[in-house]
Amino acid sequence: MRILVKNIKELVQVERNPRLRVCGKDMAHLDTIKNAYLIVENDKIAEFGEMAQLKEQTFDQEVDATDRMVFPTFCDSHTHLVYAGSREIEYIDKIRGLSYDEIAKRGGGILNSAKRVQEASEDQLFEDALRRLEQMAAYGTGAVEIKSGYGMTTEAEMKMLRVIRRLKEASPLTVKSTLLGAHGIPMEYRGRQDKFVDKVIEEMIPQAAAEGLADYIDVFCDAGFFTCEDTERMLEAGAKYGMRPKIHANEMACSGGIQVAVKYNALSCDHLEFTGDAEIECLLHSETMPTVLPGAAFFLNMQHAPVRKMMDAGLPVAMASDFNPGSSPSGNMQLIVSFACVNYRMLPEEAINATTINSGYAMGVSDRLGSIAVGKQASFFITKPIPTFEYMPYSYGENKVDVTFIDGKVV
Ligand code: NIG
Ligand code: FE
Repeated sequence: MRILVKNIKELVQVERNPRLRVCGKDMAHLDTIKNAYLIVENDKIAEFGEMAQLKEQTFDQEVDATDRMVFPTFCDSHTHLVYAGSREIEYIDKIRGLSYDEIAKRGGGILNSAKRVQEASEDQLFEDALRRLEQMAAYGTGAVEIKSGYGMTTEAEMKMLRVIRRLKEASPLTVKSTLLGAHGIPMEYRGRQDKFVDKVIEEMIPQAAAEGLADYIDVFCDAGFFTCEDTERMLEAGAKYGMRPKIHANEMACSGGIQVAVKYNALSCDHLEFTGDAEIECLLHSETMPTVLPGAAFFLNMQHAPVRKMMDAGLPVAMASDFNPGSSPSGNMQLIVSFACVNYRMLPEEAINATTINSGYAMGVSDRLGSIAVGKQASFFITKPIPTFEYMPYSYGENKVDVTFIDGKVV
């Protein structure tokens, strides 16, 4: 199957020499081709260039993209999109002034979702999550990392991971799975948290590994949740089974989580509202992708991670949706691009790099997704007619995506 997309107003995020991630000042640079074509062969990108250079040849299908732009699909490297029910009542408590921490302490928050996930059937969780993935694809997302973490018991955690495995098989999107056994502390373990950590190490990690259910391991390493020592123990146990860490860190405080992530060569460390000079220095000498979650900071009305300072220091930055029922009930990556520009003062080029190639790196797929490059997966979207690529963050709230292609097929 050979498809030609022709007369593309602007082909965005093209790479002749593909990179795995983009750092520091380079994030402000985005290569594009105006009046371009793109050739897809089966599930891969075969060729692209200026219309004037297109050679006479035949195709199975031609798509005319006059007035429209083509972007690589977004990579959403941090989500919790397998969940049951919603938490809008708790959100009203937050509006009335209760903090995230206070809600968590009285059994709401993550524990509230855990109860519902424990009660939900695997089929129901699967159907709901598949619907969310379809919606995300309609907004231009092509790859999604999904965490467990609303199980709390070994049984419910494995149920969540099996749902993610089914999503990998059923959805055309690229899906990566992460075991987040240590997301919250169940009531019955309060005051003896180390026993819960033992359970993660002795039951959850070996069982997930035995069934090949987890690509990565995560821990909510932060003030009020799991300590650096707890985290180190769990990451060491995960490493024995080849699970690379992607951890939640420094959302509540300068907790030492970033240093732990770097020590264990995490693929990413995420949230990072509390990031100081020492943390930036530590990340500079690492392969860990600092990942910021603007949807959660927006929804919880939190302080913002020092993204400009991080990029000025030479760091790469990735951004993801954090789609979950508590702190970010949206998987719309176009909104994340807008938040990046408005709340973090990123340029549109920086925001697009953060949500494509760098978030692709943060989930281990930037060698095949995250840019328009020959040989990469043909996962891209064609926009509605838009004037410039800067219109993507500017026109917030509007769905600028017309058609999404995943691996060469319209979804
Ligand atoms: O990434 N910070 C920890 N975990 C989630 C929140 C999950 C929830 O509140 O249900 C997050 O924001
Ligand atoms: Fe999260």
